[in-house]
Amino acid sequence: MTQTHELSPESVLPLLQTQRYGRSLRYLDETGSTNDDAKRDAASRAPDGHVVVADTQQTGRGSHGRTWSSPQGTDLYFSIVDRPSVAFAELPPLTLAVGLGVAEAVETLLATATSNPVCRVKWPNDVWLGGKKCAGILIEANAAGTELDSLVIGIGLNVNRASFPDELATTATSLYAAQPGEGLIDRKRALCVVLAAVERWVDRFVSEGARSVTQALEARLALLGQKARCGDVVGKVLGVSPSGALRMQTTAGVREVIAGRLTSLP
Ligand code: BTN
Repeated sequence: MTQTHELSPESVLPLLQTQRYGRSLRYLDETGSTNDDAKRDAASRAPDGHVVVADTQQTGRGSHGRTWSSPQGTDLYFSIVDRPSVAFAELPPLTLAVGLGVAEAVETLLATATSNPVCRVKWPNDVWLGGKKCAGILIEANAAGTELDSLVIGIGLNVNRASFPDELATTATSLYAAQPGEGLIDRKRALCVVLAAVERWVDRFVSEGARSVTQALEARLALLGQKARCGDVVGKVLGVSPSGALRMQTTAGVREVIAGRLTSLP
């Protein structure tokens, strides 16, 4: 008898509390990148909310051309197909909406509840736990002419990884590593909790607009009030504007940064 995998539709669907996300679910033991799979499924008219989840990725992608370490059996690697009615120009804050959802979900999954946010969104696409990265988001858009056809929202969440390769050891963490002694986290439950929270925030972004996202972000923005660098801009992080740009106080005044990698400075 073949054994059902913990991330297969038979295991996940009974726990799902979403309207759209994951109702159509494709599980793969192994793949290159779930973003590529989801992109192909979107082109074949997969339903809105379709999810591809894999147990391991051989060529998992991150932003800025980096790879996403995706070992087998420990973490979550998945991509959501969404078809929001949003114009291309309005898309940038959507990554932050997804980040808010992932951060909320991570707090739900941690064993100890806290009233202060312990999970932060690091502009534009990282989720931090205790000052280290526990999740990354990679959103890719598929166009139909000048219009948006679909989005692929790729999420990598370090769930049960106990150790990281040398190059990630000082900057990365997992839910398991962040709460020693609490044991492993059920990945199918983690997937369902993340899908529900991300769906809620994306729907809120679409129905209420970017300001609902950027306002909620104020309580969760990593490096807020601290000195940081983004590209050639150095200054204090002030917040995020409704366009999704990062606001920084520099010696030459307030600058709005639309892309780049944010790093903290002493
Ligand atoms: C980043 O932090 O740079 C973004 C990382 C995104 C990784 C996820 S894992 C699932 C999906 N498939 C990919 O190839 N990338 C995303």
